[in-house]
Amino acid sequence: MTKKTPTIPKHVAIIMDGNGRWARQQGLSRLKGHAAGAESVQAVLRASKEVGIQYLTLYAFSAENWVRPKDEIAGLMKLLQTYLSGHEHQLHENKICLRVIGRQEKLPQPVLKKLAQVEAATSNYKEGTLILALNYGGRAEIVDAVRKITNQVKQGKLSPNETDEKTVSNNLYAPDIPDPDLIIRTSGEMRISNFLLWQSSYAELYVTDVLWPEFREQHFKQAIEAYANRHRRYGDIQ
Ligand code: IPE
Ligand code: IPE
Ligand code: MG
Repeated sequence: MTKKTPTIPKHVAIIMDGNGRWARQQGLSRLKGHAAGAESVQAVLRASKEVGIQYLTLYAFSAENWVRPKDEIAGLMKLLQTYLSGHEHQLHENKICLRVIGRQEKLPQPVLKKLAQVEAATSNYKEGTLILALNYGGRAEIVDAVRKITNQVKQGKLSPNETDEKTVSNNLYAPDIPDPDLIIRTSGEMRISNFLLWQSSYAELYVTDVLWPEFREQHFKQAIEAYANRHRRYGDIQ
């Protein structure tokens, strides 16, 4: 039996790409492009609330982004911190819980501290969950899960033959969060860039040419509309 696709995805994940290209078009620095992207995050949060999205994951910094120029990375981290400080109140007002996925320990100390504080302060909220993927890599996440699982086997808590897909899912960074139903990528690139590799196995993909700093409510709603017209088959026929 094929399941009818619910019109509204429960979990939307976004690869927020194109800040640099937008900045170049405007004759601005790449950092100005990243700063402009913060406005798009605001727009998507508003649209998510309006549409009724329960989980929203934003790919903000990949495990591979460390190869970028030092000043761009420093600027991005600073932006993240400013954004969190400036917008924490919105999470409280809307009862949204903040979560972080990725190898957090590599992030600068002040960012880590701020993230931990906001995560703790919002942990009981149930109106929605905002997941930030920071220093996130899908392969790194699977490697980290494998390490946890092999340790459990070593300690005799798990037998190798019992290890199944559920075991892997349960050892990812946020095992309680359902897999994304819809993955949106801005700026036209047709690739996944190491994002949610395990969790995206049956996600619907939506790529738009709109550059991230120009992404607004109407673009988000277009993606949701496209999703509503998809037919998820999960391997079945029809
Ligand atoms: C996405 O925009 C933001 C991050 C990866 C941090 P980019 O900075 O990748 O923008 P383009 O791809 O160079 O246009
Ligand atoms: C993906 O964008 C990562 C984020 C949006 C944070 P990139 O710009 O890093 O991806 P590639 O390098 O074009 O694949
Ligand atoms: Mg890019």
